Amino acid sequence: MTLSTAVRAVRGSAIRDLLALTARPEVISLAGGLPAADLMPRARIAAVTADVLDDTGPQGALQYGETAGLAALRAVLAGQESARCARPVDRVLVTSGSQQALDLLARAVLDPGDPVVVESPAYVGALQVFQAAGAALHPVPLDDGGMRVDVLADRLRAGLRPRLVHTVSTFHNPRGVTLAPERRVRLAGLAERYGFLVVEDDPYGLLAFDGDPPAPVAAHSDRVVRLGSASKTLAPALRVGWLHGPAEVMAAVELLKQCTDLCTSSLTQAVAARLLADTAWFEAHLRTVRRAVAGRAAAFTAAVAAHLPGVSCSTPSGGMFCWLEFPPGPGGTVTDTAAEEVIVEAVRRLAGAGT
Ligand SMILES: Cc1ncc(COP(=O)(O)O)c(C=O)c1O
Repeated sequence: MTLSTAVRAVRGSAIRDLLALTARPEVISLAGGLPAADLMPRARIAAVTADVLDDTGPQGALQYGETAGLAALRAVLAGQESARCARPVDRVLVTSGSQQALDLLARAVLDPGDPVVVESPAYVGALQVFQAAGAALHPVPLDDGGMRVDVLADRLRAGLRPRLVHTVSTFHNPRGVTLAPERRVRLAGLAERYGFLVVEDDPYGLLAFDGDPPAPVAAHSDRVVRLGSASKTLAPALRVGWLHGPAEVMAAVELLKQCTDLCTSSLTQAVAARLLADTAWFEAHLRTVRRAVAGRAAAFTAAVAAHLPGVSCSTPSGGMFCWLEFPPGPGGTVTDTAAEEVIVEAVRRLAGAGT
């Protein structure tokens, strides 16, 4: 059978392979953005689900809902995003995870061959979406201050005209870094000047271990589509994500969403709406998660320092990612084999020490 050109353009998903591995009971995966299951508010989700089912009657949480999302959830999200972006955000669309937002957005604005700037390294789920849309990918490097916006500016000056620039602005997946405040302002300025859309993919922004991350890129320009998610703060199984941005783009995304799934689950949207609207509970929950994840990150970086000689490890200030750099192998370059040898040696030593 011959499949469509679009399907043939999609590479095998690294995330799907990864999730297949993490489903094995003996594997504790540190590779994907999987929130710790023991930190998910299980009892609270169960109680609120029961309340929602009791309160909303037969036309409520078990029925199809509006494609754009449950009004109560959209209102809560609009309020929170307005506060974060320090400007009124009146139209938020709810999606089935922010991954769907990314996919619908790509389909709404990209034609095959359109240039898209991605970070290097990039969130693999974004790469897959842009490849499926047939985009021409232009990687821009990251450093400790996030995307090298100066490199992007040089490329734009040299003639590159992207439709989209994708950035995981805060606690980057997989690099762990946060886009510096002055780069956020500059990126927003470049979007205005060269007429591209910034996709600010921000599922980790609420997970700062200490203090607040810088204001979103969306605080500095209207040419930003901002993506958010309840996956990392509540639970991925709710499949509640959202986006906001220019009205024309939102209308196109809503139309495409209708073709894809008619609506996001009314039940999980109602649960998310209640949890997010209960600000006292949500803030306390976030404090617990941040404290626990910070402790685990410290234990992880200490273990790398103690057991992986020659391997450098970033010190995360939030989110879920540490970045490790392995020493070069005999040929002077870092290879999978050289990295594997370091790990195998560490495991051997730990086993020998009875750890
Ligand atoms: C940067 C980034 N964007 C989007 C997603 C997808 O999240 P969701 O569960 O909301 O679809 C992830 C998940 O790991 C992510 O790391």
